[in-house]
Amino acid sequence: MSRFAYVNGRFKRHSAATVSIEDRGMQFADGVYEVVGVHHGKLFGMEDHLNRLERSLSSLQIPMPMSRKALSLLFERIKRKNLIENGAIYLQITRGIAPRNHLFPTNCRPSIILTALRRDAYDKEKVLQGTKVITLPDLRWKRCDIKSISLLPNVLAKEEAKGKGALEAWLIDDQDLVTEGTSSNAWIVTQEGELITRYLGNEILGGITRKVLLKISQAGKLKITERAFSKEEAYQAKEAFLTSTGTFIRPVVQIDDHKIGDGKTGALTKELLDWYETYLNEESDGT
Ligand SMILES: Cc1ncc(COP(=O)(O)O)c(C=O)c1O
Repeated sequence: MSRFAYVNGRFKRHSAATVSIEDRGMQFADGVYEVVGVHHGKLFGMEDHLNRLERSLSSLQIPMPMSRKALSLLFERIKRKNLIENGAIYLQITRGIAPRNHLFPTNCRPSIILTALRRDAYDKEKVLQGTKVITLPDLRWKRCDIKSISLLPNVLAKEEAKGKGALEAWLIDDQDLVTEGTSSNAWIVTQEGELITRYLGNEILGGITRKVLLKISQAGKLKITERAFSKEEAYQAKEAFLTSTGTFIRPVVQIDDHKIGDGKTGALTKELLDWYETYLNEESDGT
């Protein structure tokens, strides 16, 4: 089946879609992105993604290239053109095309790319087997709250994780505290049953899945604390998991050489997975 991409006003065959060599995204990683999940044919959490996009753009002084409504329509169109039932839509907005110069160009229009990615339907049995993460120093810049396309430290850490048989790397700051994963947020459940994830700040991306899970957990009256936790605390946790648009909730059963709990997906993580699944299905049944 043909895949289609959207580049600066036009839909093109994915294989024929290109950007300028002077796009500032290519020259300076001067841009931002969003990944919006598609579940049962419906875009999930669009409002939250648009809010985060606007925040990222304004942090870099890149104007929003079109209205939220127009952008939402583009998401719908790329989803339909690519017949995506389960998957994700990738959006990238850069400052635009200009001769290479560190200074912001004047009269530069932002460049927009949208692509679509099809994924297999969610395989719960496989997810419940749990996964391994490793820890690595957090080498990223000091504005990880911006969803910048500059992802080299994330890419390197993810590759190292793969080499060690892990799905993800949890990044550790100068105080030995876990910030987040290379493309996910990090969570633990303490021996006392308290759900912990790091507070929002410049050190982490405010994940949309994180936000949804906090909402669901609060509704379920769980004891939740948004605070930093150390690598050592994570090793001693009763349960652990990570969250992202791509992985939803992924149980973590090993961190470095430490088994988490009994080395199997924890009871609370399982419950949260069920709650999240129900929420996702309800939202997808909406419109
Ligand atoms: C660094 C980082 N943290 C967290 C997340 C999770 O965010 P979301 O739940 O919005 O996918 C991502 C997703 O790409 C990420 O790149």
